[in-house]
Amino acid sequence: MKIAFLHSVLRKEEKLLLDEFVLRSDIELVMVDDRLLSFYLNRNNYHFDVVIERCINHSRALHALRLFESAGIKCVNTSHVATVCGDKLLTSIVLKEHNIPQPEVAVAFTEESALATIEEMGYPVVLKPAVGSWGRLLAKVNDRDAAEALLEHKTILGSYHHSIFYIQKYVEKNGRDIRAFVVGDECIAAIYRTSGHWITNTARGGTATNCPVTEELGRLCIDAAKAVGGGIVALDIFETDNGYLVNEINYTMEFRNSIQPTGVNIPGKIVDYVISVGGTR
Ligand SMILES: Nc1ncnc2c1ncn2[C@@H]1O[C@H](COP(=O)(O)OP(=O)(O)O)[C@@H](O)[C@H]1O
Ligand SMILES: [Mg+2]
Repeated sequence: MKIAFLHSVLRKEEKLLLDEFVLRSDIELVMVDDRLLSFYLNRNNYHFDVVIERCINHSRALHALRLFESAGIKCVNTSHVATVCGDKLLTSIVLKEHNIPQPEVAVAFTEESALATIEEMGYPVVLKPAVGSWGRLLAKVNDRDAAEALLEHKTILGSYHHSIFYIQKYVEKNGRDIRAFVVGDECIAAIYRTSGHWITNTARGGTATNCPVTEELGRLCIDAAKAVGGGIVALDIFETDNGYLVNEINYTMEFRNSIQPTGVNIPGKIVDYVISVGGTR
């Protein structure tokens, strides 16, 4: 089986995956660096059974996946999953369409309508760029003064990405949220991310401890993963008195901090899944 490993700079995650690939026999792994890729639409020089996407840049990942799919090559994840999960608004829409519980979300396109929406939703709210990760440019808005200032700054200083106002109700989560990993049909592991800061990303200092994957949590994660198109995804989940809420779903997940606390060989599970996809006709 010939597997393409689509990457950019190799992070810890990519190195862990490569360590797993070398343990598998009958695999020919071809490294495809997105910084060197040049893809002619009318030539198909690629004879891969499957591509595993591990780019850093969302736009490159998305478009490279679409190109490989157009050449008839199976991809993990699919460009559809990358499209939906790469955009928090598209994710929220899909979750709603599949009746998956999530925090309240509203969208507005102008400063005025966004302010009116925030006032109506009630403070605190969280403003997020629809495309983004690692907790960057998230803003918790506690009052009208902050809302006005933020909306003005986004309007005047922001790029194209800030012209859509993604407004989410702030969820009181008692210092932690859950990061759960789904590979294929299985929720393989989950961690609690605990932090003194309201942004709990481990990239921002949140600490990881094992979170048992209960029947309820596993079911929700598998359903939510299916809703966005399946494959290999990582879900951010809030625990509330009324049950779990799915905050967002990531499609090129980082997992370096989750192997030790969970005791699960996450890269091993990912590699097994990619090989199983490559083996299907
Ligand atoms: N609506 C919210 N209520 C409470 N905490 C939130 C909310 N939205 C985000 N957070 C916190 O910020 C973190 C990052 O937000 P997230 O939507 O996952 O963006 P990113 O793509 O940057 O990870 C979450 O893991 C959570 O700790
Ligand atoms: Mg997140």
